[in-house]
Amino acid sequence: MAIEQTLSILKPDATRRNLTGEINARFEKSGLRIVAQKRIRLTMQDAMNFYKEHEARPFYKSLCEFMSSAPVVVQVLQGEDAIAAHRKVLGATNPANADAGTVRKDFALSIDENSAHGSDSAASAAREISFFFSSLEIVG
Ligand code: CMP
Repeated sequence: MAIEQTLSILKPDATRRNLTGEINARFEKSGLRIVAQKRIRLTMQDAMNFYKEHEARPFYKSLCEFMSSAPVVVQVLQGEDAIAAHRKVLGATNPANADAGTVRKDFALSIDENSAHGSDSAASAAREISFFFSSLEIVG
């Protein structure tokens, strides 16, 4: 297994309900290390740029409205097999399908308000990390 970095976003439903510490504790307990972190408020345009790959999907506009509705915490997680390890801790995108004990099973309100985002591949992780962070801001 290789050491990887992946992008994590704690979404507006998580920041509104003051859940960022509880969710990050799950990541850290699983062995992932937070090597970059900032709390920001996305504009609608920022969200549209970030989720551009979904622009043809019916949920694109509501997803971008939601992601710009309150602050988010964007962070880089590092660890062994970090992309898959992070997604395992998160659980399925739709909380109705998420395994017991996962972040989305325990905290998500719906498929839209699903508390956290994680990169789904090495190519996505590289694009998504560089969308939010410069190399100077990532410190292991
Ligand atoms: P995320 O990992 O942030 O990537 C895109 C988001 O779109 C996803 O989490 C969900 O919150 C949201 N979404 C809403 N409807 C769907 C759907 N049918 N399939 C996938 N993602 C969806």
